[in-house]
Amino acid sequence: MAELLFDEEATKRLLAAYVTPDVEAQREQFVLTLDPRAGERVLDVGSGPGFLAGAIAHAVGSGGRVSGVDISEPLLAVARSHCAHLPWVEFRHADATRLPFEDHEFDAAVSIQVLEYVRDVDAALSEIHRVLRPGGRVVIVDTDWDSIVWRCADRERMKRILAAWEPHAADSYLPRTMAGRLHQAGFRVESQRVIPLFNPVFDPNSYSNRIMDLMVSFVAGRDGITRDEAEAWAADLRQSGARGEYFFSLNRYLFLAFRG
Ligand SMILES: C[S@@+](CC[C@H](N)C(=O)[O-])C[C@H]1O[C@@H](n2cnc3c(N)ncnc32)[C@H](O)[C@@H]1O
Repeated sequence: MAELLFDEEATKRLLAAYVTPDVEAQREQFVLTLDPRAGERVLDVGSGPGFLAGAIAHAVGSGGRVSGVDISEPLLAVARSHCAHLPWVEFRHADATRLPFEDHEFDAAVSIQVLEYVRDVDAALSEIHRVLRPGGRVVIVDTDWDSIVWRCADRERMKRILAAWEPHAADSYLPRTMAGRLHQAGFRVESQRVIPLFNPVFDPNSYSNRIMDLMVSFVAGRDGITRDEAEAWAADLRQSGARGEYFFSLNRYLFLAFRG
């Protein structure tokens, strides 16, 4: 069945999750790992709302360049508006597997929470390899949905919701094969790290609370799950959270690799 479409509604829900302190703190880690320097040319593959591109743009300065590509027009519009005051940032409508750039155009690249949505990941890695200069670096982050721990009253219902959510990505378990794929594409993997999203108490302004709405809208009508059932699942989590019975943990995995 079709994966998550980053249309107007999904964009609204994704933005709500992306401005939470959880995700903002992670973004800072990604920038620190990439370590962009003044004057560098950086590519953001699947730039989404452009928050990361904006942060990288401040580091490279007006003597550098940041190019973002994405296939979602609503997210490209948000990104262009977010970075409108940074003329050395550009966003283009392009697929990760067909990058509209010359060979060796970039010093560095990032792709955060994107490749899990791409059907031909190896083609995307090969394109990133092509547009990076020799010795250039890439930071890739994806989620493995097998790592989820979410306290709930009804474990059977949770299993059904998570099973219906699984096809929201082309590969919900991509990180475990990423190092091998990077190697195959011609990269040297420098480091791999786990980046947990951890909400041990309920907070309305947290990733797990915000992602629930995106999950409800995706799973409703799939695998026999009705909208009422999906909403009851989310309401139950929020109510148990309000009673002090909350626990959510989900792992993302970061890869820093260099082009040979
Ligand atoms: C979960 S969002 C992540 C956005 C951004 N990288 C961030 O971390 O804030 C996934 C993004 O990947 C984009 N995307 C999905 N498939 C893509 C593809 N084949 N080529 C380019 N972008 C893609 C989506 O449109 C969306 O903006």
